[in-house]
Amino acid sequence: MRDSFRTRLGFILAAAGSAVGLGNIWGFPTQVANHGGAAFLMVYLVVVVILAIPALYTELSIGHQAQANPVAALGKLAQRPHRVGAGLGKSVGLLNVGGAVLMLSFYHIIAGWMLAHALGSLALAMQWPEAHLALTTSSLWRDLVFVAVFLVGTGTIVVRGVSNGIEVWSRRLMPLLVVLLVVLIGYIAMQPGAGAGFARYLQPSFAGFSDPNLVVAAMGQAFFSLSIGLGGMMIYGSYLDRNANIGQLAVSVAALDTLIAFLAGLLIIPALYVAMGQGMQVSENGQLIGEAQLIFNVLPELFERMGAAGPWLGFFFFMLLSIAALTSTISLAEVPIAYLLESRQHSRRRATTLVIAVIAVFALALVIWFVPLFAWTVAYVTKFQLPLSGLFYFIVLGWLWSRSNKLKEKAREQWRFRLLFWHLRLVCPLLLLWVFVDVAFAG
Ligand code: PHE
Repeated sequence: MRDSFRTRLGFILAAAGSAVGLGNIWGFPTQVANHGGAAFLMVYLVVVVILAIPALYTELSIGHQAQANPVAALGKLAQRPHRVGAGLGKSVGLLNVGGAVLMLSFYHIIAGWMLAHALGSLALAMQWPEAHLALTTSSLWRDLVFVAVFLVGTGTIVVRGVSNGIEVWSRRLMPLLVVLLVVLIGYIAMQPGAGAGFARYLQPSFAGFSDPNLVVAAMGQAFFSLSIGLGGMMIYGSYLDRNANIGQLAVSVAALDTLIAFLAGLLIIPALYVAMGQGMQVSENGQLIGEAQLIFNVLPELFERMGAAGPWLGFFFFMLLSIAALTSTISLAEVPIAYLLESRQHSRRRATTLVIAVIAVFALALVIWFVPLFAWTVAYVTKFQLPLSGLFYFIVLGWLWSRSNKLKEKAREQWRFRLLFWHLRLVCPLLLLWVFVDVAFAG
């Protein structure tokens, strides 16, 4: 029998775990800082409601209806009204499997950096300066070792399956993540200068809205943050039982993801102002000096200035990022694993070993040829694959999938649902097309 989530809460925590990742703790606050503070926050909230929740609903529903991995699911639901649809659906599914593997290879590298910095902060707390230096200075060996460690972490969880691996670990890690985040916010809020950061984050100024990239940046961020477009949510949706209410679940997961992003903003934006108050340089011409510098230089230095608590704050902060990353990698890894399991008849153990090995090879290539390959891979996955797959999911839900399409059935009876159906069928794909054209061709 197919594995499945045991409880509703287990599913919500696992799906929120997939959604809550580096995109929330690192990406979202960086975007806020670069796009007008509160203005970005407000536009983001609107975009989550009009585009990201519909997209999450769509991806979850496709998996839920098909009860199968993305290749089989898209093939099945896209086959009507024309038979060519099945081939197209399967191709997009395979593209998702490949995209998930590519994303996992660069995501594991970044996650490895986070883990290395967490241990580096711990070394500082223990007063082992050499270990601290080795762990926090980038080198080929350090990166390779930590990619390997993180891959073992991902593999150890997913090899246990959905209910015993993914669900159990999401239930453990997600509460821990929230506790760490709240402790850090509390600590930063008490530092001199934090107030100005809260104001910048929470008080809208009209000047912020003049940024021409604001809306597209918010849509891209919301899409990435909700893990849409690589089949991760589709596969989780397929492990829900037939009676699950997908609309409600999509709203809960999106609300949790948005809450965590909002909280991460409450941590990072005030921290930036505290750092500036201490004379540290954090921005130039209104833009952050560098996203990586923010996380790996500015914040650690700020923590170090906070006396004995500093190294522990660093440790908590990088553990927070590592945990957020881990609950995302397990969802993505499940995409190729489920495909090998169901469509290629591998055992879970073999599928897991194979997938982890392939990611390891790709990650090795990315670490060695970092400069030409890394940025290209990130751009391909985030700018190309996510919006285009998302677009295809909307087309499947709105135009191709005809039988037992709940939203479509309800749309026949009530005008509210008819409006919603047309929103998903027409408005959402057009919005995505806009994001794609703007991001892929303009910048
Ligand atoms: N949502 C994750 C984050 O915010 C990234 C992700 C995207 C994970 C797509 C899975 C699939 O970091």
